[in-house]
Amino acid sequence: MGEIVRLQKYIAMSGADSRRAAEKLIEEGRVNVNGKLIQEQGIKVEIGKDKVSLDGEELHLAKKNYYIMLNKPVGYVSTVNDQFDRPTVVDLVKKDINTRIFPVGRLDYDTEGLLLMTNDGDFTYKITHPKYHVEKTYIAEIKGGVAIADMYKLRNGIKIEDYTTSPAKAEIIDAIDGHTYIQITIHEGKNRQVRKMFETLGYTVTALKRISIGEVKLGNLPLGRWRHLTSHEINCLLG
Ligand code: URA
Repeated sequence: MGEIVRLQKYIAMSGADSRRAAEKLIEEGRVNVNGKLIQEQGIKVEIGKDKVSLDGEELHLAKKNYYIMLNKPVGYVSTVNDQFDRPTVVDLVKKDINTRIFPVGRLDYDTEGLLLMTNDGDFTYKITHPKYHVEKTYIAEIKGGVAIADMYKLRNGIKIEDYTTSPAKAEIIDAIDGHTYIQITIHEGKNRQVRKMFETLGYTVTALKRISIGEVKLGNLPLGRWRHLTSHEINCLLG
């Protein structure tokens, strides 16, 4: 007899999503066990015997966990499938990794840089949930100059739509050819947050690149390439 686990744990083990998000998938009626729709929480399944599917596709338990970093180029979406058929970050890694892996959080289509990918749903949860306060650092290229008063506003918090950003670290690192380069560190991760912070202050972001997540740095990984995280990097991220 195989190991018996709760359905949401099985879904997280498959890498499809975190345990908590799996509960939502069940609630939404997207999960079947042995062909039967399951919407109640807490049901148990037997590994190796029961067949669990999400949106009609059977979930398989990965034998091995993958933790990788990709230097995402502009022009790729960080979802597994795109409704407009644009290239996805999964396209950049799938020829080398023959198991389903998923982006950890998102980078916008027009943002480049460090994107983590994994088939470990609980790892994704720890990196992306705001309660863990994982810092993400970006270099923003801004058209024109940036007023010092606005640097203070970035550092103190800015009201965007219905929320106020937490204090950020922000430094001007260069000003050249009509652009200002600002290194900014946030630990939230609302949709397009960095762009919106600058746009709210009246600036135009001409490029945005993520250079680190927690202690893990993009370094000189070429654009469009990926590498495995070291066990030291994985441990640092898991804190
Ligand atoms: N903030 C943004 O505006 N875009 C990203 O891709 C990430 C953070």
